[in-house]
Amino acid sequence: MRTLRDVLEAAQRQHVAVGHFNFSDLVTLRAVAAAARELGVPVMVGVSEGERAFLGVRQATAAVKAFREEFGLPLFLNADHTHSFEKAEDAARSGFDAIISDRSELPLDENATETRRAVEAIKSINPSILVEGEIGYIGTSSEILDEMPEGMGALTTPEEARQFVAATGVDVLAPAVGNMHGLLHSMVEGRARKRLDIARIAELKAATGIFLTLHGGSGTNDEDLQKAIESGINIVHINTELRVAWRRGLETALAAQPDVVAPYKILPGTLEAVKEVVSARLQLFSLVRARGTGEGGR
Ligand code: G3H
Ligand code: ZN
Repeated sequence: MRTLRDVLEAAQRQHVAVGHFNFSDLVTLRAVAAAARELGVPVMVGVSEGERAFLGVRQATAAVKAFREEFGLPLFLNADHTHSFEKAEDAARSGFDAIISDRSELPLDENATETRRAVEAIKSINPSILVEGEIGYIGTSSEILDEMPEGMGALTTPEEARQFVAATGVDVLAPAVGNMHGLLHSMVEGRARKRLDIARIAELKAATGIFLTLHGGSGTNDEDLQKAIESGINIVHINTELRVAWRRGLETALAAQPDVVAPYKILPGTLEAVKEVVSARLQLFSLVRARGTGEGGR
């Protein structure tokens, strides 16, 4: 099977992006895998530290491997937002394909020092793991929010990005370009969308030349997402939209069958609700292909 690096390089040539979806249960993982299989596209799944703590690091690795083998699917596992060195090493030893060493809470120079340390440790365990670093502040939680997180707004500058990449040796960079983790109520209700600074994305790509990830993809304007991908975004993270669909799907299924207690009879409604969101997002991320090089077979 192709490596994650191969898949990202192909996506970059075709001006499309790889979707990244978080999961903390088998229902969501199955929904992501089924949507990607139907569309015939590679996909990434991620577990944050909280999601890993609930699911289990080894259990997440084993479940992804099982879907990959059963479906013959290019399905890759990412250790999302990993704040400690120990947890990054644990994920590397467990067989993750990618790890985000997220030290963005630190001042930029300390972030770079700690990220460099993580890159060296991860690569010494398995050099093929892709390591992502993060700079700038885009909030922290994939939840429904009452207001914008304090401190949001400053965009990553090309110079910060260039220096950080040179100092750390990361394979992938996650910048702040107008994106934000989570959804405001107005976004859940469809009255507002996140907007991105497309020109800044193009500047960051030119300054770094490496893969770029867009975090906080939920609730982003569709056209901005397409332009962001054309301008250099290679991976788009979606989490809150899936969580909203999961909860609504479950509520609907429970309300429709008040006396049913068998999880396998209730949870298909949840799975379908999540799968619908994943499928729509994957189609959008692949749509740019029509305006790209015409190279097929992702
Ligand atoms: O790492 C996870 C993502 O950045 C998800 O952000 O919950 O706003 O979609 P989101
Ligand atoms: Zn994120």
